[in-house]
Amino acid sequence: AADITADLEHVLIPADKVAERIEELAAQIDADHAGEELLLVGVLNGAMMVMSDLARAMKSQLTVDWMAISSYGSGTQSSGVVRILKDLTTDIHGRDVLIVEDIIDTGLTLSYLVQNLTSRGPHSLQVATMFRKPEAFSCPVDVKYVGFDLPDEFVVGYGLDYAGRYRNLRDVATLAPHVYS
Ligand code: PRP
Ligand code: MN
Ligand code: MG
Repeated sequence: AADITADLEHVLIPADKVAERIEELAAQIDADHAGEELLLVGVLNGAMMVMSDLARAMKSQLTVDWMAISSYGSGTQSSGVVRILKDLTTDIHGRDVLIVEDIIDTGLTLSYLVQNLTSRGPHSLQVATMFRKPEAFSCPVDVKYVGFDLPDEFVVGYGLDYAGRYRNLRDVATLAPHVYS
């Protein structure tokens, strides 16, 4: 198959900066949750990288579970409709839960998720996201841990996709125009 780096325009966040920030977030989450056993809820598919890196960087006792949520089809625009494609297998009632996302863009996915998980009666519910777009500030959900604030550009890599592709890129980068046409 073709080399995916040929489809990139420019790198916004190189892999070493991502890795550095993961270590900082993990240390902060560990410190904030001393004595608690967190359940990390990763949002598939995008959170695959941040979930595995963050969990490995943390030193605390923890468990993981996954939800698959989709608000995007194959394009670059949100469809506005959030669907649960796979639910948790863990009962989160009374648990300390940390939602782990790759990116908050419009905040639609997260708003839906927080409302949905809150109704299940967790002891606490917080949010960690590796990336955040400017529009996310209009979303009412409180996001405790943020890796990087990004400009309003469509980016791929480190779990972020275009039509399902480019998640495996280590850097976060914009795509060259020829990819969209
Ligand atoms: C992406 C991303 C977030 C969500 C953010 O997921 O991983 O989950 O969109 O966008 P929002 O703030 O506008 O809701 P997507 O629906 O593309 O599914 P994926 O994780 O499988 O790529
Ligand atoms: Mn996602
Ligand atoms: Mg996506």
